[in-house]
Amino acid sequence: MAKLTNQLDGMIPISNWEPVANGIWTCELGDMSREQRYSDLAAEPPRLEAIDALSPADFPFIGETPSYLVTDGKLAVRLPAAADEQIYGFGLQFDGLKKSKKVLTLNVDHWGRGGGRTHAPVPFYISSKGYGVFFNTSRFLKVYCQVGNRKDSPNNPPPVDRNPPPDAETAPWQALPQGDAVEGHVNGRGMEVVVFSGANLMDVVRRYNLYCGGGALPPLWGLGFWHRVNAHFDASQTNAEVAEFRKKQFPLDVIGLEPGWMTYSYPCTYEWQPKRFPDPGAFARGLLKDGVRLNLWVNPYISPQSRIYEEVYPYSGSHMVWLGVVPDYHMPEARKLLVEQHTEDHLDIGISGYKVDEVDGYDFWLWPDHATFPSGTPAESMRQTYGLLMQHMLYKDLFKKNNRRTYGNVRSSNGGGSGYPFVIYSDSYNHAEYITGISTASLCGILWTPETRSAATAREWLNRLQTVCFSPMAKLNAWASSTQPWSFPEVTNAVRDVIQLRMRLLPYLYSAFADYHFNGTPPMRAMILEIGTHARNETVTKGELHGETDPYAMDKVVEATDQFMFGPSIMVAPFYGEKATEREVNLPPGDWYDFYSGRPVGSDTTITVTAEALDDRIPLFVKDGAVIPMLSRDVLNAKEASGCDLEIRHYGSADGTFELYEDDGNTFGYEQGNYRIRTLSVTAEGLTEDILTDAAPPMFGSASLKRMSRLPV
Ligand code: GAL
Repeated sequence: MAKLTNQLDGMIPISNWEPVANGIWTCELGDMSREQRYSDLAAEPPRLEAIDALSPADFPFIGETPSYLVTDGKLAVRLPAAADEQIYGFGLQFDGLKKSKKVLTLNVDHWGRGGGRTHAPVPFYISSKGYGVFFNTSRFLKVYCQVGNRKDSPNNPPPVDRNPPPDAETAPWQALPQGDAVEGHVNGRGMEVVVFSGANLMDVVRRYNLYCGGGALPPLWGLGFWHRVNAHFDASQTNAEVAEFRKKQFPLDVIGLEPGWMTYSYPCTYEWQPKRFPDPGAFARGLLKDGVRLNLWVNPYISPQSRIYEEVYPYSGSHMVWLGVVPDYHMPEARKLLVEQHTEDHLDIGISGYKVDEVDGYDFWLWPDHATFPSGTPAESMRQTYGLLMQHMLYKDLFKKNNRRTYGNVRSSNGGGSGYPFVIYSDSYNHAEYITGISTASLCGILWTPETRSAATAREWLNRLQTVCFSPMAKLNAWASSTQPWSFPEVTNAVRDVIQLRMRLLPYLYSAFADYHFNGTPPMRAMILEIGTHARNETVTKGELHGETDPYAMDKVVEATDQFMFGPSIMVAPFYGEKATEREVNLPPGDWYDFYSGRPVGSDTTITVTAEALDDRIPLFVKDGAVIPMLSRDVLNAKEASGCDLEIRHYGSADGTFELYEDDGNTFGYEQGNYRIRTLSVTAEGLTEDILTDAAPPMFGSASLKRMSRLPV
């Protein structure tokens, strides 16, 4: 920790920390009466019991006290950070996890602007010292992460002569002198800051997620395969596409319609286009009979052609988006209008969820920062939270009220969003960045899908589909490309195999999501949550002075963000980009095994894997003692998975256990305790099963052990 310095000129030491739960402290700075907290928009209240069950952890700032300042209409806060401390997080960022020595503008935006602007710029960071900080105020936030040096700080490095005379012995000059704090400000009157401690980084993230109400628990079908058809498809084209999936034996759980299903879109009516969908009820029911659910694309901007336009008009903001009004969903009247229309036209015929598009947008698509809204919510808060507001309304007022679970997409989210069953996607489409997104999202209660749209080659197609099958939503989005999983015949079998593998892993994956919901453990996660900050996480290349290309000789830090954990035991290392068929894999300490063969692959080392040696399968590695419950056979959708027997795979030689979570897969009965947990334990003697709670019937059938690795004699 930094040295004790409470006397920074003009800064007010924060003395009003309130312990609100085990290892969590909040403080209100300035005037919060007109500010909005992200946590107020969370899906559920904090899960205090689960937070209490985590091991106790002390308040992290034991040296210099955090402090704040109100100046020039800004509220600024300063959280000390030591020179050897690493800062990670700040939302769904595609350029890496580490944010030390970076300045970020955390505004909701499309990815592409960089510098912090992204679909989910969650103002939450975690520190390598084992704590996290959440700026719980829905304003644009600018943060300086260990960048900038106060003149009255005792922690500054000594200045170094950049141009010493010959033979002088000087330390190397630093282009970016080490800062000793994370400093951030909003243009607002107040800010709430929440501090989370933890025995390790994973516990810090768990606490954050639990404070935001826990993680989302999708319906079982949401974890199957998704396909979004061309935006202009009609009912019979969509039915034909679904039939093709079955004919070719490709799993399919959800079919997504894109904007053409509506009478008008951009702005939207939310009313069925009768030429394309003359009988939406019969269409939806027909699909459901075959176990396929319908998901509808929407954006929030309402067309003058919509039957709710006139009524919603007074409850909308001053500016339009795509010439549609922007409802202020803080107004109960606006929520009621939309929910009634959606219930009648969609929910009642069995629509399973939505893809909420265009809630991020660049400045020139969204409203200006001086727009006004009838609830008095400032335009910038509205921008930071519009995606959250939509999730809140659809999840709570539409689905939860009717005791039906949903799973869908949204293109922006923010702090407090962990409980929403919505997965972010993007137009940006860089495969390496998409893989990084899986890790960064895991630090801040966000679900992200690196969806597949199209590809230049069969190899790229296969690699992308393999990645997406190990993400929160396995999805092909063919809205413009009209692609199908079998679009590249030379890899069709390999594509089918990975989708089938995803399906067979449903019991394992569903339990990982239950752990997210109940305990805050992200289902997919960055390696730093697994192993802490580790030497192999990054390589630093020394900058080389060059007058035109590198005038400050800046060091370049390259992080390893192309591996991640899928559930508790499987490490995924996809092929991508230039590493399309061969790549290095960092194996953390501990014995690791090849998922497919059960063979040992090493510990605390780097290995090279090739697509050829893996028969074109995605590289997957499993921890010693891992117990992985899988369906015992291939299925075409989640409906077929129910009642299916289980193959319990065991890897390595250590004993292992797995808590298999089961419930009805569709309703909120689990909130009343209607679930079942079977503890599957594997030792040298074999598999034993204990029922921990049995308040719901089993979801899957009987379990039998498959040892993947030979035990030592
Ligand atoms: C984009 C969205 C795509 C697709 C398209 C339809 O903004 O990212 O996935 O839905 O709109 O117009």
